[in-house]
Amino acid sequence: MPRRSKAATRARPVADPADAAALEARNRAEELRTLVRFHNRRYHVDDDPEISDGEWDALFRELRGIEERYPQFQTSDSPTLQVGAPPETTFDVVEHREPMLSLSNVFDGDGLRAWHRRATDLTGTDDFELVTEPKIDGLAMALVYENGELSYAATRGDGRHGENVTPNILTIPGLPHRLPPSAPSRFEVRAEVFMPRSGFDAMNHAIEEENLQLVEEGRAPKRIFAAPRNAAAGAVRQKDSAITRSRPLQIAVYQLGWSDGPTPDTHWETLQWLAAMDFPTAPRSALHPGIDAAAEACEAWVDQRDSLDFEIDGVVVKINDFAVQRQLGVVGRDPRWATAYKFPPQEATTILQRIAINVGRTGALNPFAMLDPVRIGGVVVRQATLHNEDDIRRKDIREGDTVVVRRAGEVIPQVVGPVVERRPKKAKPFTMVERCPVSGDPAVRPEGEATYYCPNPVCPAVVHRTAEH
Ligand code: IVH
Repeated sequence: MPRRSKAATRARPVADPADAAALEARNRAEELRTLVRFHNRRYHVDDDPEISDGEWDALFRELRGIEERYPQFQTSDSPTLQVGAPPETTFDVVEHREPMLSLSNVFDGDGLRAWHRRATDLTGTDDFELVTEPKIDGLAMALVYENGELSYAATRGDGRHGENVTPNILTIPGLPHRLPPSAPSRFEVRAEVFMPRSGFDAMNHAIEEENLQLVEEGRAPKRIFAAPRNAAAGAVRQKDSAITRSRPLQIAVYQLGWSDGPTPDTHWETLQWLAAMDFPTAPRSALHPGIDAAAEACEAWVDQRDSLDFEIDGVVVKINDFAVQRQLGVVGRDPRWATAYKFPPQEATTILQRIAINVGRTGALNPFAMLDPVRIGGVVVRQATLHNEDDIRRKDIREGDTVVVRRAGEVIPQVVGPVVERRPKKAKPFTMVERCPVSGDPAVRPEGEATYYCPNPVCPAVVHRTAEH
């Protein structure tokens, strides 16, 4: 645009409301592109996201919405046209023979049926089987096998070029290094690398323990991983594969990339075929005759979500027959033959205004977080538990911090940890109250316990809670 007209746009008072709306949309799209790019980098390159997946989804959807309404404002480098972030240069770059795609999302049964309807409209039939699989929240990997041996393993990167992380992937237990002679001479499988919750918790707990010591010595604490996904991504991108080996990673294959030899005709048979070659596959995948059964399976997964030792953020629904898949093809970055039924998010970030103390029936002084209200999975959360003093200090949660809050199922919301980068300069480490905030009696912490108590049996709070009980 010539400079003169740009200046004129800025100076001219906008009379037409349609113009004003368009101008606002253009500016907002610009802002959103910058935000999404920044957060993509934090997530894909730094393995250290600042916002939850739900918040990222909301930014991305808002941007895509504007670009759909005003296609003239879409730029060729918009993150809506890319998958993830371009790879860093610390590893060799691998060009994927077939691009590593992303998935469209649906958020409920209606969305899933709308996806199915588009597929039936395009193919002229609804007579196709569907496969449901847990959508493991890890990172995608392309594994290329040549003459029965793992030739290389590459990250998704920007979908076209990934990073060669073979030595690190070879450390993951359960991944076959050699295949039976019947395997195709050259083929690629796609897999998710992830960290089970149990391993993740143990690892973070060990870092937290170490941090207590470091902070006491006035040294900088080590970074706690925000989620298993980030921990897995960090482990995969280590330069020293001995470090990767020490991290509790797992892998599950979910897809065939390409093959130079014969392969099955359906996705379901492909999963069995891969399992027969000793590839680990995701548990509880299922084949369904049609959309009703597939939708039912997705809904059932919502309640099973926390019953696995690894995090899943949805269910992937795929059309079983490869011939139908080919017929439907790909739009932009997403195949039309698959979609992700996303669960409501369980985490969000917000500001922790104050750490307050609740006096329980037993006199226990329980710290809890008073939060700027935040919506998590459709519920507004204002308070969250903080367990006890040791836990707050281990995680170094401070008043004024931006914190990650998690609300899983019916469980009371919890503060997972602080986003240290967003900490205000004046935020002070937490210290426990010295007195019961209700009776004013000095708080006592019995030997070997993590909890402080009000020792006064007639503390008004204790009396009140006992009566309530
Ligand atoms: S299929 C074209 N199946 O989700 C098919 N992806 O949002 C694209 N993922 O990059 C992927 N479990 O990292 C597929 N059973 C599954 C999956 C799965 C997890 C991840 C994968 C992918 C991302 C797409």
